[in-house]
Amino acid sequence: MRILAIETSCDETAASIVEERRGQVIVNTNVVFSQIATHAATGGVVPNIAARLHSQNLPEVLIQATKNKKISFQAVAVTTGPGLIGCLLIGLSAAQTIVALEKKPIYGINHLEGHIYSAWLGEEAPELPALVVIVSGGHTELVLMKRHLHYQLLGSTRDDAAGEAFDKVARLLELSYPGGPAISRLAVHGNPEAYQLPISLPRKGDLDFSFSGLKAATSFLLTKLPQPLPEHLKADVAASFQSTIAQAIVRKTQFALEKYPEVQSVCLVGGVSANSHLRAQLEQMINQEGKRRFFVPKMDYCTDNAAMIGAAAVYHYLFSKPDNWYDLEADPNRQLTSNGK
Ligand code: KG4
Ligand code: ZN
Repeated sequence: MRILAIETSCDETAASIVEERRGQVIVNTNVVFSQIATHAATGGVVPNIAARLHSQNLPEVLIQATKNKKISFQAVAVTTGPGLIGCLLIGLSAAQTIVALEKKPIYGINHLEGHIYSAWLGEEAPELPALVVIVSGGHTELVLMKRHLHYQLLGSTRDDAAGEAFDKVARLLELSYPGGPAISRLAVHGNPEAYQLPISLPRKGDLDFSFSGLKAATSFLLTKLPQPLPEHLKADVAASFQSTIAQAIVRKTQFALEKYPEVQSVCLVGGVSANSHLRAQLEQMINQEGKRRFFVPKMDYCTDNAAMIGAAAVYHYLFSKPDNWYDLEADPNRQLTSNGK
């Protein structure tokens, strides 16, 4: 079973062909056309420009992903939300057109479910129950997965998402968009212990996150430092901020593991999982505990891509059923619900 997957929820136009082989997901092609260069000029994604670029670039991305239609596929998967409505509609409309013309099954996939299943794109599949730590530009969530396609939301952010905090602090430091990679590049040259920033752990007992205080504290710190900020101090601020946010994520994950000792695997996914420091810190904590395995997608599958949407569709194919193309709707606020319903 080969699936053509399409992802256009934000600023990456992506298509991929994945294959299900004996319960494993094999990626045949994975094409991502990033709009970052365009949005860098405005310091963030402009929704209607993003939608226009999807509509301009999706045909070519589909041609490349199918190797000019030389790779056949038996089903189509598409992100239906959450995301920017104009952007989602471009991908959905293309997917609906393909399946209506070719009479193929379609799977409408939740973008967050795609990030979750990016952890299943490696050589080994995480064993369930899994604790999935989603850290992206729009979401920071702890999800317990006891069975495939079943998600129990244990905690989420009360304000900014982790990626959003990276992007906002990067703006304060006058770094380029997107802020996450810019901060992590700069942090390599800085001292993570240079400044004490507050670790946001709203009440120990619950598993929610809060990052707006950390952003405010960083902003306040900058008012006390010399301006224009010398490069070495900028690097110290970036390293201190990155280290604090990683500590908050590691500690909340640790609390979740204490609460749910049955967890066998911990999966770190979403754009911020590309952060080497966070990957290393979380892995170190899991290895020190020595009770469970740690999974993080390879870099290409951390930020938005269509292979992860295809991976989620493979599990819908195995454990659920397809959707009707005429029932699918783009939902900018789509919640993560079990079994995609
Ligand atoms: O998952 P993603 O591509 O899009 C959403 O679904 O939101 O995540 C994008 C976010 C951005 O906020 C970006 O700054 C952040 O992921 N990001 C990083 C890194 N690479 C991307 N944050 C920290 N370190 C990175 N290396
Ligand atoms: Zn994403």
